[in-house]
Formats: sequence, structure tokens, C-alpha cells
Amino acid sequence: MQRFEAYLQSHLPEVSTFHPVYRAALGDMLQAGGKRFRPMLLLSIVDAYEPLLYNGALPVAMALEMFHTYSLIHDDLPAMDDAPLRRGHPTLHKRYDEVTAILAGDALNTDAFYLIAKAPLREDIKIRLVELLARDGGSRGMVLGQAIDCYFENTPLTLEQVKILHQNKTAKLIAVSLQMGAVIARLKKKAEQEIYQFGLDLGLLFQIQDDIIDETQSDEEAGKTTGNDEDKNSFVNLLGLKESIAQADALAKDLQRRFEGFDGKLQRALQPLMTQYLYRHKGK
Ligand code: IPE
Ligand code: IPE
Ligand code: MG
Ligand code: MG
Ligand code: MG
Repeated sequence: MQRFEAYLQSHLPEVSTFHPVYRAALGDMLQAGGKRFRPMLLLSIVDAYEPLLYNGALPVAMALEMFHTYSLIHDDLPAMDDAPLRRGHPTLHKRYDEVTAILAGDALNTDAFYLIAKAPLREDIKIRLVELLARDGGSRGMVLGQAIDCYFENTPLTLEQVKILHQNKTAKLIAVSLQMGAVIARLKKKAEQEIYQFGLDLGLLFQIQDDIIDETQSDEEAGKTTGNDEDKNSFVNLLGLKESIAQADALAKDLQRRFEGFDGKLQRALQPLMTQYLYRHKGK
């Protein structure tokens, strides 16, 4: 985590321009922190299986965090969730203006792929990494999820549909973070697929927990605008808080059981993240 943080802080987008706030706007939300869940998933796998490739994986981990941060900057815009607080700081459209926020998001999205392309890794591996992030981040993944999320505000979806929404907007990026780690570490195709499937459910749990947090935590506790899901197809709106927590518990338990079937190396690598995140909806 410290190595990633140091890498990120020393590799913020560097642009020389006479624009007075552009460079700051690109770096603000990356610097503001966050849990760094996606880069940690990727780096844990690389560290466990191919520690010599850790340095080569750092820019890829940073690319995931940049891509995710772009999705948050756009998610907070007035046209989407209209949120003034993110990672304990004013959102970019509040601090600057909407145009600056939109463009900072656009830049982080594109720059993520630039970072992968320039990473000191084998060319064939980098092509796969670009393909995977584009597959799960773009029109068939995160963007589709966000489109469904926003289009169906105030229109109730079924539980099955809400799961599809959550899988796309959140779970695929989490799953692909694990898969990209597996690709860098050159795990067997079967292990790569197994890890990706596990990630899809881990990501679904992550978004159910996020829906619970919207209901149970204050802005200060969450570091972002909460109580903001009123019009949304969130788990809490669909099932109520108690049942959402029960479903999150059940999913966490199932993930724990599957996790215990992984090989020892993988378990040791991911254990700290599992301990921290499987039951985060319980804590305050
Ligand atoms: C928030 O993601 C949006 C979701 C997909 C749930 P995170 O909860 O990972 O936010 P940060 O990165 O820690 O700020
Ligand atoms: C956003 O989900 C998921 C993204 C793809 C950014 P939310 O709208 O629930 O995320 P928060 O609660 O604002 O972090
Ligand atoms: Mg949203
Ligand atoms: Mg939001
Ligand atoms: Mg939320």
C-alpha cells in the first residue's frame, strides 16, 4: 500500500500549460485518497506470484485507480448523482466548474490506457491488459451500469435487474482488477477465470455494502455525500436496510467459503483485503 501510494503521488499527471487550474484538477481527486481497493487487488496477486514484476505492475495499478477516479468524478456531476463531497474534499465541479470536472474525468480515462501502454511489461501482456480494462470499463461494463443507474432513477427495477446494474457499474472493474493481476502474474487460464468469477461476486458485495453505507453513514464518516440514493435502484431501496445487510452477510459468507478453497499463496495474498472488506457493512 505504501509503495503504491508513493508511486501514485510521484506519478500524478504532469502537464505544463498556462491553464491556471487544469493540472491541479487532474491530480486533486487522485491525491485525495480513497481505499485504493482496485490497485491493491491487482498488486496483491502480482506480489504473491511474481514479486519481480511488482514494479512493472505499479503503473497498471495506477491506471486502475485513474480509471476508477474518472468514474467517480463523472458520477458526482450534477447530471448524474449531483454530489458535492468526495474523498473528504469538494467534488471537482464544486471546486472548479462542470467543464473542468468533465474534462479531468476524460483525461484520467484516456491516460489510464497510456500508462498501461508505457508500463515496463511484455507487449503481449499489455495488449491483454488494455483489452480487459476496456472490456469491463466501457460500453459493456462500468458505463453500461452507470447508464442503467441513471436512466432508471425513480423507476423500480427487479432484484435481478439491480444485480445486473451493480455487476456492471461496480463489480466488473473489481473483478478485472483481480484478473489483470492474474494476467501480469501469468497464472493459468483456469485460475484467471476462477479469480474473475470470484471478483464479480466480491464486487457485487462491494456495491451492496456501498448502498448500505449510503443509508447508515454520515458524509463525514464516508468522506462522500451519503443519503443520496433516494431516487436510485439501490439494494436498500429495494429490500430495506435489514434485508440488505442479511443479503450482504450471506454473500460475504459464501465468498469466505470460496476463498478458503483457493491455493494457499492466493489466500495469503488476499487475506488482508478480505478481512478488511468482506464485512465492512457491519462497521461504522
Ligand atoms: C465508490 O468506490 C464507488 C463504488 C463503486 C462503490 P470506492 O468505495 O472504492 O471509493 P474510493 O476509491 O474508496 O474513494
Ligand atoms: C457509482 O456508484 C459507481 C461508479 C461506477 C462510479 P455510486 O453512485 O453508488 O457511488 P458513490 O456512492 O457515489 O461512491
Ligand atoms: Mg452513482
Ligand atoms: Mg454516486
Ligand atoms: Mg453509492
